[in-house]
Amino acid sequence: MNKKTVRDIDLKGKKVLVRCDFNVPYNEERVITDNRRIVAALPTIKYLLENNCKVILCSHLGRPKGQVKPEFSLDIVAAELSKLLGLEVKLAKDVVGEDAKNLAANLNEGEVMLLENVRYEAGEEKNDEELSKAFASLVEVFVNDAFGTAHRAHSSTTGVASFLPAVSGFLIEKELNFLGTALENPERPFMAILGGKKVSDKIGVIEALIEKVDVLMIGGAMAYTFFKSMGYNVGNSICELDKLDLAQELMEKAKAKGVKLMLPVDTKVGKEFDANTESKTVKYTEIPDGWEGFDIGQ
Ligand code: 3PG
Repeated sequence: MNKKTVRDIDLKGKKVLVRCDFNVPYNEERVITDNRRIVAALPTIKYLLENNCKVILCSHLGRPKGQVKPEFSLDIVAAELSKLLGLEVKLAKDVVGEDAKNLAANLNEGEVMLLENVRYEAGEEKNDEELSKAFASLVEVFVNDAFGTAHRAHSSTTGVASFLPAVSGFLIEKELNFLGTALENPERPFMAILGGKKVSDKIGVIEALIEKVDVLMIGGAMAYTFFKSMGYNVGNSICELDKLDLAQELMEKAKAKGVKLMLPVDTKVGKEFDANTESKTVKYTEIPDGWEGFDIGQ
């Protein structure tokens, strides 16, 4: 990989800020239902600990939109990290406020702390320069290991990197190496499966993949925008009505390139977005009014 990683820089004993993607799913009781994103960050964290670093982790969780909302606290992540690392991971009460600064100033080599949800700060998603500087002022080195958030130019992902020596962590390295091989020299037939909510978020990815793949499968809520653009009813499903033309264009582009663009043939629909709602599987052409499609069917 032609990007600097934690291996390419002298980190010994240094205070390091690591941007992770701890945006994990959790239920109403605030129990994490899938900890894989936390587990995926462990190799970098352990490497830093082996190098006697003072490790300050940060991440977003959900979309609190610049407001401090307890339901988006990273307390559940700090607890899970403590369990997985076998050492106490202290959670700061704020992001770059007094508590974060005090904890950071008193952090010893081999210790780990976590800042509160970076999206509690209104400047985070605006890539605010003052906030980026505030992150940078806590540490000596910045490590970005938030692969799942790499497409967001926010203060804690790209902004802070302008004010400090910045390198990638092992997760970013692993994913970039994998993507590099997969995209530059793929085995054929080459098929990509894409999910997510919004076509608008993925236009660039879809267009790039159409240039490379033989088959492109589109699932997730994005599929409903495609169904709607084909003239089908999508009931209450998530659908970007202003992107119907775009969905058509993408389908035409794929066809012109000889790429098989596949959409789900059926879909699971429910009365409301609730695990206990009445639900059934219907053909993609037959989503009834009053029902919401959640994802691919069987
Ligand atoms: C994700 O889960 O897709 C990432 O953590 C990014 O989250 P976001 O879509 O809220 O920026």
